Amino acid sequence: MDWLEFGVQWLHVIVAVFWFGGTMFLDFVVMPTLHEAPPASSRDFGRRLAPRMAMLMRAAALIVIVLGVVRGIAWGPRNAAGTGFDFASQYGMTWSLSIVLAIAIAAVGDGAIVRTMRKLYGDDALWSYASTGGPPPAAFSALTGRLRTWSIVQLVLFVAVFTCMILMRFGF
Ligand code: HEM
Repeated sequence: MDWLEFGVQWLHVIVAVFWFGGTMFLDFVVMPTLHEAPPASSRDFGRRLAPRMAMLMRAAALIVIVLGVVRGIAWGPRNAAGTGFDFASQYGMTWSLSIVLAIAIAAVGDGAIVRTMRKLYGDDALWSYASTGGPPPAAFSALTGRLRTWSIVQLVLFVAVFTCMILMRFGF
């Protein structure tokens, strides 16, 4: 067994589990709970959650992508001349698609989801209904709607990249 390959794959998979699993936990457990919590508690928790989540997810994305690239190039299939990674193979194409998908996931996370969370939790005016009562303002509902839409897009992309991982495991 090649222990370096083992180590790279081990780290790739465990950080990917954190990235994908953390996102699913956020989408299916944390966000629905925040919507049910009293607005003031939801705002205070969201304000603390957003920066920590942004930093950890960004680091996880970087580690997963770099190790995935290294794993493919160093231990993936060789080209006919034996000079390097076979980009033109089915495996090489799935691997290339995985890079595109993972970058899209990171861009949606960092560009759309984190930015929307910053707007939602950073603007005191959006949360004034927490003390005055009544329904949240229209801008609040627009931001939570945007958050939901981008979370679904990100989950679909995660499922696609995960499928690529399993395909490569079987040589595709
Ligand atoms: C969210 C993103 C990702 C997740 C959740 C993920 C997850 C996984 C998992 C679970 C495996 C183990 C598959 C198995 O042995 O059955 C794996 C392997 C692998 N991943 Fe990723 N991965 C991600 C992104 C990437 C990216 C961006 C690349 C780079 C192109 C990549 C390249 C690889 C390679 C080359 C393997 C080894 C496949 C093989 O030959 O068996 N991964 N990944």
